[in-house]
Amino acid sequence: MLSIRDLTVRYRTSQGPVHAVDSASFSVPRGEVVGLVGESGCGKTTVARAVMGVVPRTADILGGPVLFEGRDLIRLSERERRALRWKEMAFIPQTAMNALDPVYRVGRQIEEVLVERGGRSRSQARARAEELFALVGIDARRLDDYPHQFSGGMKQRASIAMALALEPKLVLADEPVTALDVIVQRQVLDVLKELQARLRLSVVLVTHDISVVAYACDRVVVMYAGRVVESGRVGDVLERPRHPYTMGLNNAFPDLERAAGELVPIEGSPPNLLDPPKGCRFAPRCPFAEARCVAEEPPLRTEVDGHAAACWRSDEAAALRPLAGEAATWRR
Ligand SMILES: Nc1ncnc2c1ncn2[C@@H]1O[C@H](COP(=O)(O)OP(=O)(O)OP(=O)(O)O)[C@@H](O)[C@H]1O
Ligand code: SF4
Ligand SMILES: [Mg+2]
Repeated sequence: MLSIRDLTVRYRTSQGPVHAVDSASFSVPRGEVVGLVGESGCGKTTVARAVMGVVPRTADILGGPVLFEGRDLIRLSERERRALRWKEMAFIPQTAMNALDPVYRVGRQIEEVLVERGGRSRSQARARAEELFALVGIDARRLDDYPHQFSGGMKQRASIAMALALEPKLVLADEPVTALDVIVQRQVLDVLKELQARLRLSVVLVTHDISVVAYACDRVVVMYAGRVVESGRVGDVLERPRHPYTMGLNNAFPDLERAAGELVPIEGSPPNLLDPPKGCRFAPRCPFAEARCVAEEPPLRTEVDGHAAACWRSDEAAALRPLAGEAATWRR
């Protein structure tokens, strides 16, 4: 469905280029949910926006192709891209919850998409909006409410309904559950998963929370400082991580389904992307870093079953994993 190859995005700033995404590659198969996970600032939103073609003017998109059903999205004209938006691929922006316009009724906003983008009549749009609300589990009478009358979870479900209005094949959802409490998170993720299975949607689910990935995704792409450091099927990556950053992320989040054990933070913070480190970008925080790691950037290498990692020591992953599970390893 979607195949991203060597996507690079830089933001022009007065201090120089910010290397927000560097040679990112991953694929989204039809009918699967792919989690894009990593700490704040690692480039998740930039990837999603570059795919949708909604980046700020200061962004330069290099590399690619970004193939959507065989068409290179990067090389489409704005007009061709607009024709795809909503109908073929839809985007739920990071601030979707607050992106609903406070002065218009929620139903009206969904109907606008159907009328303006989908060419539906007013009455068809109303009927479809009712159908969409039923799909995400909101009473159709609430279409006449204003956004402030909705809870956070309802607003998030309403933005999912809006994204699905014109039956896209691919949905990119940027942090759709981040602002919600854990119970509502599960409700919204359940709605998304059920629709995804029923409509055979492909979904890119952006999140900084690995437990959301464990709960809702088939595949995962782990990003660190603008690079893809690990990717593969969720079971493989989370149970047998091959990159120390993924091992660290696993320790740092409570499980959505289990009680929290000891949470071990990854000490330090990601590098400044105005001047990223030359070798492995995780080296300054990695407890397993060696001389080579600082000198040379490790390539993303695919091992069995499409499980890929960008770490010089990924062959030793089985030995490193137990160490990564110990808090002392990460303290310095
Ligand atoms: N318009 C911009 N101009 C300059 N730098 C930017 C711009 N937008 C984002 N960046 C920088 O690009 C990098 C990636 O940002 P991005 O928003 O893609 O990260 P993210 O993973 O989505 O983070 P978060 O989890 O906080 O949403 C960050 O270093 C950020 O500061
Ligand atoms: S390449 Fe080296 S520094 Fe980077 S994650 Fe692997 S062991 Fe750590
Ligand atoms: Mg973001």
